[in-house]
Amino acid sequence: MTILLTGATGVIGSVLLPLLARSHDVTVLARNPLLPNALCGDVTVPGLGLCAYEHTRLTDRLRLVVHAAALTDFRRAPEEYHRVNTLGTRHVTELAEHAGAALIHLSTAALDAPVRGTGTGDRMLLAYAASKRRAESVVREAGCPAVNVRVGGVLGDSVTGRIARPQAVHRLLRGLAAGRSPALGIPDDHWIDLLPQDVLARYLADLAEQALLGREFLAEPLWATAGPARLTLGELKSLCGWDAQGVGQVSGSREGAERPPTALAQILTSVFLPPSHPQLPTSLGTLVPSGEEMRAAVRANIRRVGALRG
Ligand SMILES: NC(=O)c1ccc[n+]([C@@H]2O[C@H](COP(=O)([O-])OP(=O)(O)OC[C@H]3O[C@@H](n4cnc5c(N)ncnc54)[C@H](OP(=O)(O)O)[C@@H]3O)[C@@H](O)[C@H]2O)c1
Repeated sequence: MTILLTGATGVIGSVLLPLLARSHDVTVLARNPLLPNALCGDVTVPGLGLCAYEHTRLTDRLRLVVHAAALTDFRRAPEEYHRVNTLGTRHVTELAEHAGAALIHLSTAALDAPVRGTGTGDRMLLAYAASKRRAESVVREAGCPAVNVRVGGVLGDSVTGRIARPQAVHRLLRGLAAGRSPALGIPDDHWIDLLPQDVLARYLADLAEQALLGREFLAEPLWATAGPARLTLGELKSLCGWDAQGVGQVSGSREGAERPPTALAQILTSVFLPPSHPQLPTSLGTLVPSGEEMRAAVRANIRRVGALRG
């Protein structure tokens, strides 16, 4: 039974691939022609850039597509998010439809992030969210069994803290552990939804099994989020040994409150939600980590960013 995984070199795909490959024949679509056992392709190109032979060989045996390829960094022009995230999802959806395969599309829980500013980080977050919203519509209208999975923030491994590429939250943890905060002006009671990458990958691998067994997907998205296990900025500070007495209780005091917020601070301002905002829904069921498991995972990630800092 063949699964096509896009984005296998990314943060989530690189953890998901070994789980899927344990019991299935997985084909990876990658831009890097040197990657072993991969089909070289690009989601921005119709037919994913595969030649007719590769296309037919793949679609003849394809049962499931897990679409994790996307443009996720926040330094690109708005049209690039559209090209990779929306058009790319259209091309992947067309391939799944052609093959009669099921489709799992990784979307984001930050579709409606409350972006208030007009800085670089704000503009990029808006363009990213818009491209993912349009990608969700493409998937909802797909002519094959398809589901959008809204992913929250991603932490590194819950035991080792390892992650393929540090995320905004790792830069926050690194700053906090060093006694400064990139989270300019965010109150301590604001919270963020984070899931360790191994827990997320286990959930997605289970979902893939269900899809292969013919699970019917409804139009509603699924939520790969921590839900009740969300963490406040205050909890993250405390886990980092943040010294409120020494460096001031309002974040950023060492960096100078008058400075314009950095792109990172703009992104953090939008992903930390106020206590009045209801927790995100979660579809994880028994996989939702306990509060203690979340704290242990954050500690592992703090150790890791400390190690990365050398
Ligand atoms: N990480 C998070 O915190 C998070 C949170 C919410 C939602 N998500 C969603 O989860 C999915 C995976 O995110 P991630 O963090 O794993 O992303 P990532 O680390 O940025 O990796 C992106 C992947 O997409 C591939 N890719 C980019 N452009 C491509 C193209 N034109 N054609 C083919 N492949 C292309 C990259 O391949 P190359 O190696 O060739 O660059 C890489 O494998 C995305 O849909 C993202 O929106 C992630």
